[in-house]
Amino acid sequence: MSEIVLKTNKLTKQYRDIRAIDNLSFTIRKGTTFGLLGPNGSGKTTTLGILLSVINQTSGSFTWFEEGNSNKQRKRIGAILEGPHFYENFTAYKNLKLISKIKGVGDNQIERVLKEVDLYNRKDDKFKTYSLGMKQRLAIASALLSDPEVLILDEPTNGLDPQGIADIRELIIKIASTGKTVILASHLLDEVEKVCNEYLVLKEGKLIHKGKVDQDVTNSLVIELASPDMIKLETVIKSNPYFISLKHNKNFFEVKFDGNTDFTLVANFLFENKIIISHFLVLKKNLETQFLEILEQNV
Ligand SMILES: Nc1ncnc2c1ncn2[C@@H]1O[C@H](COP(=O)(O)OP(=O)(O)OP(=O)(O)O)[C@@H](O)[C@H]1O
Ligand SMILES: [Mg+2]
Repeated sequence: MSEIVLKTNKLTKQYRDIRAIDNLSFTIRKGTTFGLLGPNGSGKTTTLGILLSVINQTSGSFTWFEEGNSNKQRKRIGAILEGPHFYENFTAYKNLKLISKIKGVGDNQIERVLKEVDLYNRKDDKFKTYSLGMKQRLAIASALLSDPEVLILDEPTNGLDPQGIADIRELIIKIASTGKTVILASHLLDEVEKVCNEYLVLKEGKLIHKGKVDQDVTNSLVIELASPDMIKLETVIKSNPYFISLKHNKNFFEVKFDGNTDFTLVANFLFENKIIISHFLVLKKNLETQFLEILEQNV
């Protein structure tokens, strides 16, 4: 059992007539990259705000590092919630120097974080000359200055172009690989799928699903199949050791297999059994289909 970094117990936030979050209980273990996934207005930022003590919860409680939630624990957490405010006319280096003074962190950390986010060779350029993606990387650098054990990011790729998005995601994965725990709020399914290993789904403030990304993504494989000889195809496919179920569609079968097989193994199996295939389409069961199923079950 690994150490527990965060435990929340029935966290609830009520704004006048809106229940922004409702009875949230979850646990995050050390080293996890944890996604808070949910559509706009589902309570992600409110949750992070409470965890950082920027917002007071209406009821419920939470504990960092199995200790508490005072300043002592918050010093072990780096976060970008509202985004740090950088001076346009200062260089990246000078901006970080200012923040490190405020945080009481030594100057020697500045070079380290600039290298970590791949901005070291641009450190003497003014902030205003940075691209959006570079600004976001600098924000992450500032959150890393104190070498926190936990990094909290709220929608870190908002507004970036595809390359900027890919860079930030790669950076988050790299940071996570150093053993830090990452908590990331996002409304983007593929972001959570690519970056996180555990996640929960929020809908109108309620926790409607908790899961592990790899399990939810790979627990089954669905393939559309057709052959000139559909009867033989059905008999053969049902003898496949990973076969789970078969649905008759108009022109093809929709066949579900255990996620321990993959499409090349299925293709080989059909070939070995001398089945002629006229249609073969892998329907990847990804977090997106999973997410839609979950949302449908909770209307
Ligand atoms: N200060 C506030 N006063 C009143 N209602 C608020 C306040 N802050 C948030 N809310 C409401 O709480 C709900 C959750 O908002 P929150 O910002 O946490 O959602 P979110 O999941 O972060 O959304 P987004 O994806 O748009 O960032 C929304 O209905 C929002 O309108
Ligand atoms: Mg938000």
